[in-house]
Formats: sequence, C-alpha cells, structure tokens
Amino acid sequence: MKRLEWKPEYLLGNDVVDAQHRQIFEYYNSICGTEPHSIDRDHLLDEFVAFAVEHFAEEEGLMEHAHYQPALFAHHKASHERILQSLLGLRTKSVDEILEFFGDWLVDHMLIEDRRLEDWLGASNRS
Ligand SMILES: [Fe+2]
Repeated sequence: MKRLEWKPEYLLGNDVVDAQHRQIFEYYNSICGTEPHSIDRDHLLDEFVAFAVEHFAEEEGLMEHAHYQPALFAHHKASHERILQSLLGLRTKSVDEILEFFGDWLVDHMLIEDRRLEDWLGASNRS
C-alpha cells in the first residue's frame, strides 16, 4: 500500500497545527487502505471531514486572533472550503487519485499557505 510518510520538514512550529497535520497523514494512510465505495471508506471519510472542519477552524481562529492580512485570510479560507468540497468527492476515488489529491493539498496548501500563516504568527509574536 502506498503511504505518505511524515517528515520533519513539514513542521510549522505551532504544536496544535503540527499535531493536526500529522493526524491528516494518518487519515490519508488509513483511507488508502480502504476500497472505493466501501463502508470503511465512507466511515473514515466522514471522520476525516469532521476532523478537517475542526482543523480549519483552528487555523482560521489563529488568523483572526493575529489579525492576518484580510486578502491572505480570504484566500486561505477559500482554500479550506475548496479542500472540504474535494474531500467529499474522495468516496469513489482510486488510491492513485487520492494520492494525487493529498500531494496537491500537502504541497500547495500545507507547505505554502499554512507556512505563510505560521511565519506571520511568528512575526506577530516577536513584535
Ligand atoms: Fe490551512
């Protein structure tokens, strides 16, 4: 089975967000072990969507608290909404398609937008 391995370079420096991102890897690996259209897949995806909603709310709370730039906030929030929509579409996908989705999310979102947010939080804590 294909697995996504967590790497230290994914750490952003916020313990809560980092723990949630690690959990996302766990969800990915569990979901890849299920068959498309299966009850196990549906069950895991339901759990994962609920978890992602909670995780995005955590990040958006951080953005609000730190008075994140409005344009970046709107862009980041829109990404979260897009990701949630895509998650709902994973019920019927093959492992390769799921891998592609997670690769895009991890590279485009977690490592770029989330890192930009953490850099902002780090800078606002120092000022
Ligand atoms: Fe995010």
